[in-house]
Amino acid sequence: MAEGCAQILVANFLTFIVLLSFYGSGGGLVNATESPPYTVVLSAPGVEIRLYHELSWISAPVVGGTSFNKSTHDGFHRLYQYIHGVNEDNTKYKITTPILTTITSTPNGSDFSVSMYMTSKPSIPSPQLNLQISNWKSHCIAIATFSGFAQDDNIYKERSSLHLSLAKTFTLHGKNVTVSEDKSSYSIAQYNSSSTLSGRVNEAWVNILACP
Ligand SMILES: *[C@@H]1O[C@H](CO)[C@@H](O)[C@H](O)[C@H]1NC(C)=O
Ligand SMILES: *[C@@H]1O[C@H](CO)[C@@H](O)[C@H](O)[C@H]1NC(C)=O
Ligand SMILES: *[C@@H]1O[C@H](CO)[C@@H](O)[C@H](O)[C@H]1NC(C)=O
Ligand SMILES: *[C@@H]1O[C@H](CO)[C@@H](O)[C@H](O)[C@H]1NC(C)=O
Repeated sequence: MAEGCAQILVANFLTFIVLLSFYGSGGGLVNATESPPYTVVLSAPGVEIRLYHELSWISAPVVGGTSFNKSTHDGFHRLYQYIHGVNEDNTKYKITTPILTTITSTPNGSDFSVSMYMTSKPSIPSPQLNLQISNWKSHCIAIATFSGFAQDDNIYKERSSLHLSLAKTFTLHGKNVTVSEDKSSYSIAQYNSSSTLSGRVNEAWVNILACP
């Protein structure tokens, strides 16, 4: 009994040290940025299917945006102001990753929306920023990772190769499964700041209609 308690104490203490080294000011090892939690449902060449649980995001719609790059900058600028206190309670939030740009095809071109995951309840945005709070239901997302800068001239190629990787029969727990994509939109997730020139991590995301 007593030994078990001591072990739990030691475990808690170690967790505390680890947290301190990530988040402690001054002596912090890295500037840890939080990302939304998920569970890997399936992993196959060129694709991973993840289950994201209920999450809150703050989103900046960029209606009639002409380019991915411009729309991402425009949306991110508004999100940046929001997390620096331009909201109903003047609450400041830490930046999270990824910065997620969702591209929805419309009869006239594309609509963009730039989103950031919120680790706590989002304050009501100030109206001039034209932001929306989106509450995600738990759902599966198929994801392909790519490096370099995500730009107008490569994102569609990444989305297409994700589509090809998904057009297969997968084996999951001894069963053959196929998945259906939600073709109405896809997203590009960026994890590094624009000043990071190498070792960049990006992902193409597409929603899966029913989790396998
Ligand atoms: C994206 O846009 C920003 C500003 O709008 C610009 O500084 C940057 O060079 C652009 N990047 C690419 C790859 O076009
Ligand atoms: C597409 O453009 C036309 C002409 O500019 C406009 O009347 C129509 O409402 C637009 N459709 C959408 C879905 O934005
Ligand atoms: C899965 O598909 C393979 C190849 O088509 C087939 O040989 C196998 O019998 C299938 N397995 C099940 C459990 O249906
Ligand atoms: C870019 O972001 C990813 C994901 O957070 C991280 O693993 C990687 O180390 C970052 N790259 C650099 C060069 O910092």
